[in-house]
Amino acid sequence: MIKKCIFPVAGYGTRFLPATKSMPKEMLPVVNKPLVQYGVEEALDAGLDEICLVTGRGKRAINDFFDISYELEHQIAGTEKEQYLSSIRDIISRAKFATTRQSEMRGLGHAILTGELLVGSEPFGVILADDLCVCDEQGVMSQLVDIYNRERCAVIAIQEVDEANISKFGVIAGKEVEPGLFVVNDMVEKPAPEDAPSNLAIIGRYVLTPYIFEILRHTPPGKNGEVQLTDALLTMARTSKVLAYKFKGRRFDCGSVDGYVEATNYVYEHIYCAGRDA
Ligand code: G1P
Repeated sequence: MIKKCIFPVAGYGTRFLPATKSMPKEMLPVVNKPLVQYGVEEALDAGLDEICLVTGRGKRAINDFFDISYELEHQIAGTEKEQYLSSIRDIISRAKFATTRQSEMRGLGHAILTGELLVGSEPFGVILADDLCVCDEQGVMSQLVDIYNRERCAVIAIQEVDEANISKFGVIAGKEVEPGLFVVNDMVEKPAPEDAPSNLAIIGRYVLTPYIFEILRHTPPGKNGEVQLTDALLTMARTSKVLAYKFKGRRFDCGSVDGYVEATNYVYEHIYCAGRDA
């Protein structure tokens, strides 16, 4: 059973400056919840209740968020405002949190390798909180865990993107073995459109096996001089099976202002108002 989920949350969030100058980008609210809360809810929904935060300087607010605030609890105890805390109280009671720090920003691969300290030798999930995913029935992580439980290998979430946007993503190529499920045989991190091996882009959800740590230790810096998880996964795909799954749901790039506004409008209309008016 997969229990652990890494959240790499050390990034600077430069695309949201000045908002992120003294506040982690993962704490930006989409309507009334911070981005990272959506991610942790998705992990819990998939049965992953050991949350491993790979943080960095200036990210204390994330740890505080997942802890009890006695002063606040005391202030609003017995008032109608208490209801606003119910979702985060539920998370705090269901999940366990552990934190380690990434002292240098050397890429997603480096962040995952930093998380080895918390994960050890178990398979684990990875959620990039600025990819907000909204699904009708089953969250994306839960969809990936189902495939992992059947196949016992690394599984990555993918979606089709148009050519104009392909260079923002890791891109896979593979053989479709079931509708929407591919055995990966190539991967490129943020290729130029003419070099992209397909239109299937990696979304920030992964289930990985601990073998990835061994590979990451020997993965040289790639695109932008950073240790890329995509490069390590390609190495893995050459020696063992890596699957990519066209998940069912919608993804919003909340690392960009446009995607963030789109997510806010969508969540407001389809989740917040729909829940309030129900
Ligand atoms: C990371 C990964 C990339 C993936 C993307 C999904 O890039 O390196 O392969 O497609 O997340 O959001 P980032 O957007 O963090 O630069």
